Amino acid sequence: MFATAGRLAGKRLFEIRQIFAQSHHQLQARSSAFRFFSTALNYHIDSPDNNPHVPFDFTDANKERAKEILSHYPSNYKQSAVIPLLDLAQQQHGGWIPVSAMDAIAKIIEVAPIRVYEVATFYSMFNRTKVGKYHLLVCGTTPCMIRGSREIEESLLKHLGVKRNEVTKDGMFSVGEMECMGCCVNAPMITVADYSKGSEGYTYNYYEDVTPKRVIEIVEMLRKGEAPPVGTQNPLRKKSGPAGGNTTLLGEPKPPPCRDLDAC
Ligand code: FES
Repeated sequence: MFATAGRLAGKRLFEIRQIFAQSHHQLQARSSAFRFFSTALNYHIDSPDNNPHVPFDFTDANKERAKEILSHYPSNYKQSAVIPLLDLAQQQHGGWIPVSAMDAIAKIIEVAPIRVYEVATFYSMFNRTKVGKYHLLVCGTTPCMIRGSREIEESLLKHLGVKRNEVTKDGMFSVGEMECMGCCVNAPMITVADYSKGSEGYTYNYYEDVTPKRVIEIVEMLRKGEAPPVGTQNPLRKKSGPAGGNTTLLGEPKPPPCRDLDAC
């Protein structure tokens, strides 16, 4: 009897394992087609160019900027400067923050390194792996998704011959995903973080109302060192107004009704 029960339990265990394996394969298959994460990496693994022994120091100019940043906070609240200092390190270091930069920042603000790691890993605008000189971020949140952000990302990845968060061989471009950037009115949109000129010339520009064709044109303009016009790419739209002009509120607004005080 015990042998039969054991065989049944073993068979059931085998079936459960099969179900888990199938679900795992289905998830893996789905993960290549669906968006799950906007960050390239959620953990750190030492590599030859990213480990605590790779030296990092702010440039003299950025040391001055760091001092200026710290002066915004009381001397016993230096840790409040962690985000602007991470941002400065990222701009100086070609768009990404190695672990040694986080350690250097921890020393400056006098906290344990983990306090800096936990901030850098929380915010997806901090890149902890290499990005291109131009890091193209496609908004993947619902309004942009409904308006075609997946086609835009596909168009960029295909044109540049990379996967998401991979850098092109010439180091010029990488494509990532960002969540809503507050520009849904002109969806779909991408932003371009330009790290090509270090912290002095860093820009972070929005390109709105983009199409799969227009994003390629933007990429090619950037490649040639040109500056594509930022904002809406729809010639029929002015800033965030309705494309083609107003459809309501066409005349002068009526003033609110008011009693004739003389008649009172
Ligand atoms: S959903 Fe894309 S900017 Fe808001």
